[in-house]
Formats: sequence, C-alpha cells, structure tokens
Amino acid sequence: MKEYKRYMVTSALPYANGPVHIGHLAGVYVPADIYVRYLRLRGKDVVFVGGSDEHGVPITIKARKEGVSPKEIVERYHALIKESFERFGISFDIYSRTTSAIHHQTASDFFRTLYDKGVFVEKETEQYYDEEAQQFLADRYITGECPHCHNERAYGDQCEKCGTSLNPTDLINPHSALSGSVPVLRATKHWYLPLENYDPFLRNWILEEHKEWKPNVYGQCKSWLDLGLQPRAVTRDLDWGIPVPIEGAEGKVLYVWFDAPIGYISNTRELLPDTWQDYWKSDDSCLVHFIGKDNIVFHCIIFPAMLKAEGSYILPHNVPANEFLNLEDNKISTTHNWAVWLHEYLNDFPGKEDVLRYVLTANAPETKDNNFTWKDFQDRNNNELVAIYGNFVNRVMVLTHKYFGGRTPEVSIRTEADRETLQKIALTKENVENALENYRFREALKEVMNLARLGNKYLADNEPWKTIETDKARTGAILNLSLQLAANIALLFDPFLPFSSAKLKNMLRLPDTAWERIGEGDILPAGHELNQPALLFDKVENDAIDKQLQRLHALKTAPAKKDIPFDEFSTMDIRIGTILEASKVPATDKLMKLLVDTGIDRRTVVSGIAQHFSPKDLIGKQASVLVNLAPRKLKGIVSQGMLLLTEDAAGKPVFVVPERAVANGTAIS
Ligand code: 2FM
Ligand code: ZN
Repeated sequence: MKEYKRYMVTSALPYANGPVHIGHLAGVYVPADIYVRYLRLRGKDVVFVGGSDEHGVPITIKARKEGVSPKEIVERYHALIKESFERFGISFDIYSRTTSAIHHQTASDFFRTLYDKGVFVEKETEQYYDEEAQQFLADRYITGECPHCHNERAYGDQCEKCGTSLNPTDLINPHSALSGSVPVLRATKHWYLPLENYDPFLRNWILEEHKEWKPNVYGQCKSWLDLGLQPRAVTRDLDWGIPVPIEGAEGKVLYVWFDAPIGYISNTRELLPDTWQDYWKSDDSCLVHFIGKDNIVFHCIIFPAMLKAEGSYILPHNVPANEFLNLEDNKISTTHNWAVWLHEYLNDFPGKEDVLRYVLTANAPETKDNNFTWKDFQDRNNNELVAIYGNFVNRVMVLTHKYFGGRTPEVSIRTEADRETLQKIALTKENVENALENYRFREALKEVMNLARLGNKYLADNEPWKTIETDKARTGAILNLSLQLAANIALLFDPFLPFSSAKLKNMLRLPDTAWERIGEGDILPAGHELNQPALLFDKVENDAIDKQLQRLHALKTAPAKKDIPFDEFSTMDIRIGTILEASKVPATDKLMKLLVDTGIDRRTVVSGIAQHFSPKDLIGKQASVLVNLAPRKLKGIVSQGMLLLTEDAAGKPVFVVPERAVANGTAIS
C-alpha cells in the first residue's frame, strides 16, 4: 500500500426521502465503515464524511405524494437516517446535510468559479412546460408511452418496463404528472458542463492510470467513454435546490448531481474549518469514494471532470463501487416496501447490530448482485457467530475460570503445533490487510472467522479438559494460547464487528492494543486477570425469522378486493365451532373430511388441509366456520360450510380462531 499522509473517505449521500435499507448498507456504508475503522486502528489520519442528499426531484416527488413541503420531508428523513447510522455504529466523523448554509455557499462558489473560468456552455433548448402548473417539468414529472415497448406509464427519463433510458421528447402522448395536462415545449436556458472536452483526460486517468479499479467500475467507465461523452446540463428549472448564482438564472437551481458530491467537501469544511484543504487539495491525501453501482458515472466521470475543471482539488484514488443486494430473490424496492429498513431492524433485533454487519459483509455484492435471505441471516448467526466464534470464546473463558481462577495461565513450553498456530495469527493479519487494502471485505471477514475456527480445532485437538487430570502445566499452555488467539481475534474483528469486539476486549480486560501488535507474540501477559465470561452472541430463533418473512409475504399477497356494502358482509354467517372427527378423504391428497360442532348442529365440512395436518392434530380444535355457504359436493361428500384459514410464510395453513376459547355457535360479526 502506498503510504499516504491522510485519508479522505466518503460514502454516498443518501437521498433524505426515505429510510436507509440493507441494500444501502451492504453496498456502501458497511464496507466504508470497515475500511475507515481499519485505517484508524492502523493509526492513520482519516476523515470519514457522510450526510443526507436533500435536493433534487426525488425529494420533491416524495413531498408532493404526501402533500407536504420538501423541507418537511428532509427534516424527517435526515433525522431518522442520522440516528439509525449512529445506532448501527457507522462511525462518521461528520454526518451533515446538503441544506446546510455552508454547503449552499460551497456549491454556489464552486459553480461560480467554473462559470468565471468560462468552463460552462450556455444553451437554450426546448423543454416541456406545464401551463396549468406554470412550471417546467423535470423528466420524472412527464409520463407517456414508451416508444420501444409501448408501456403507457413510461417516465421522461426512463421506461421502467423495458429499462430503456429516454428523453422526455421521446415519449408518445406525454402528460404532466403534476396536473395531468398535455405539456408544451418552451425555450429555456441552461448551463452545461462540456464533458466531451474532458474525454482525453478521463481516458488517460481512468483507462491507463487506474487499471487496478474494480472490474465492474472500470468496465462501466470504459463503456461510457466508448459511447462518447455529451455536454451535461448542471442547472434545472425547479423550485427546490441551490439557486444558480448568476444573473439571468432566476428561478433556476443547481442540478442535484452537481451539488451533491460537493457535499463531501462542504461537510469536511464544516468539520474542519481550518484544515479541510489538507484533505482535499494535497497530493499526499488519498480520496476514496464508497458508492453503489448506480452512482459510478457521477463519481468517476462527472465529479472528476468538475474537480479537474476547478483545478485545485485532488482526484479520487479509488471508487470501490458495489453491485446491488436483492432481498429474498427480488429487487429491493422502496415503493413496494420490499426492503429491510435499518431503523426497523434495530428495533426488532436489539443488540444484534454486529449480526447484520456480519451477514451483509459475508454476502456483500462485491463483484455481482447478491441475495439477502432471512434464512441465511439465521444460519450465519447460529452456525458461524454463535457456533464458531462465540463458542470458542466461551469455552476458553469458562475453562480458564474453572482451572486457573480467571487469570491467564503461565506457559513453560510451547509445542511445535502451538508455534504453528500462533504463526497463523500473523499470517491472517497479513491476509486481512491485503484484502482490506484491495476492498475485498468478504475475503477479509472470512479470514478472521477461519482463525476462530482454528481456535475450536485447537481446543478439540488438545483437550484441556482431559490434560487437566494429569498435566496442569500443559493445560495452562493450551489455555494461554487459546486466550492469545481470542485476543487477536477481538482485534482483527474490530473493524467489522465493533460491538462484539468491544464486549470481548472487556471480557479479556484487553488494554488498548495497536493493530501492529496482532500476531506479535503474547498480548495477554501471564497472571493477567480476566472478567467473567458472557455470551458474545445468542441464537436467532425461528419465531423472529418467521415474523420477518410474514411481513414480506403479506406484501406479496393480492391487492385489496373492491369495497362492498355492509349489508353484503352481514349476509355471511360465521360461527365458532369445534372439530369432533377428522379423516382423510380416500384417493385425494388434499381433502380432509371433518365433523364440526357449530353450536347450531353437527355437520360435515370438507377442507383442503390434509397435506398439512393429520386427523389427530385437528380433533378438539376450535375453528371459524362459514355456516351459510351453499352446500357443495366434493368427491361425493356434501360439504356444508367452510373453515376460515390463513397461512404462514412457508405456506402452511393457520386456523383463524378467537383469542380466547368461546362457546360453539358464537357468531363472528
Ligand atoms: O443515489 C443516491 O442516493 C444519491 N443521493 C447519491 C449521492 S452521492 C453524492 F454525490 F452525494
Ligand atoms: Zn419501454
């Protein structure tokens, strides 16, 4: 790793139009936080900047949907996002926002500098205008028919059905999403960054000088460059954003993608009013942007062109963008609520911040899109964090307390195998460093977990619970080495799993220890007193997982049926009954014949539940029965009614019953 004097690490500024979800975390914030924590542990001078992106059409769309002001939206979500990141241990040095005064000033000045240098090209073009709403329309506010697939709800910037990116004038039958009226074309003036002028610089800087960038990043840059760069408007006709600071631009604001990346600079200025320039304008500073793949062009092409045009800033050293994370095999979708929201996770799984950090890193979409499933979450927690790491630590702690009064035992002799085990620590350290410095977080995490695995193997091979019978000195040596392993693992896991590393360091009473000491002999001196053992992780039970799956499953079910009048509902006679007899209907897979006491009578009901219940599960059970359903003949049996059932996430039927037992015949109304 080339030695830099300082590190400037940024993570994409999330739009403050909704909460943060696991896709954002896996793609951007968890890897950025690991990287930064690692650099800090190595004693580097690092600034880690985050903040909310509070301008642009995404914010105004959300505000319009809710009938509130854009300001109200950004206030709400900025506070929620900031708080969730803090609770999750994303260790920003500053988390600010693009509506701050200092950002408005910084972005405005940046634009003005480029303007004064004559960088921009001023152009008048025809754009859609809504005469009823009396405003120009952002691309997203125009809908119409896609010229390619004829989807009638395509947007002015993209057809979400066929994925083609569009210009508003490509749409057939355009309509304004604001008023529904047909927009007209009207001339408007904007300022353009002539990206094509930066083509030679970008080609050389990326394609020649940064061949080491991740293939997904390098590849995307190359295809943009090969397609030919076009001038890009950096102003917009919108009433939410940073006013364009020149005469003749009244009513116009900076394009959100012009101001947002400058937010990294503004936030550094806010944090370090006197020294921010050291991080942004000095060649011995290393700038790294953590982003998702949809942001590559903005961070690798447009923002560098802006920085280059300005002239006094350094360019990013690397942009380790990730691919996307899916949830249960479907694309994460904010509009369809198909997501795991960070603030909800933190409430549903208190104290399990590291579990999510672990799972998202182990499954990070580093080289291709990846999938998050709740089953995998449970398995990784139960089979890796609990069964490997937690179990190793617990055994060592308990045995040391049992045999050596909770103090690190003395070592008189170490065997060849002991020395080899110790050497693995130094080797792991090297591998972890190498992986982290090349943004391979999954690999780094795996390396550390393998060390915990090795710890369990070492205990199993050496059996201190047996040697204690005959050889206390050898037992001491075994536990001493195991404790050294545990201490090193706590240090190595620290960037990834800061909450449990803190817990383990506390258990070991491990004083602050430099990263450099990992693998360098004994970290815990003989005689060192330990605290009491406590579990590092606990099992995630099926109930917790089922609850999450059920929420997602409910989203997949059909939309609500049409409204009915009350009179129509009250024609249904639903009673509580008890199942008296049950038998499978011969020659069918699904049908069960039931005799039900409905309180009114005893009657036969045939129900399609035979694959999920055996007769003995059913006898004596209460059920809700629709008793006035017209009788139907099923496989020759007349069914006089229907049982009411719902189903769990796995599709197994679940009886709908009153919360307390009530008398048979009681009506549901
Ligand atoms: O894609 C997004 O969510 C943008 N808000 C990211 C902005 S990153 C940076 F430029 F601020
Ligand atoms: Zn289409």
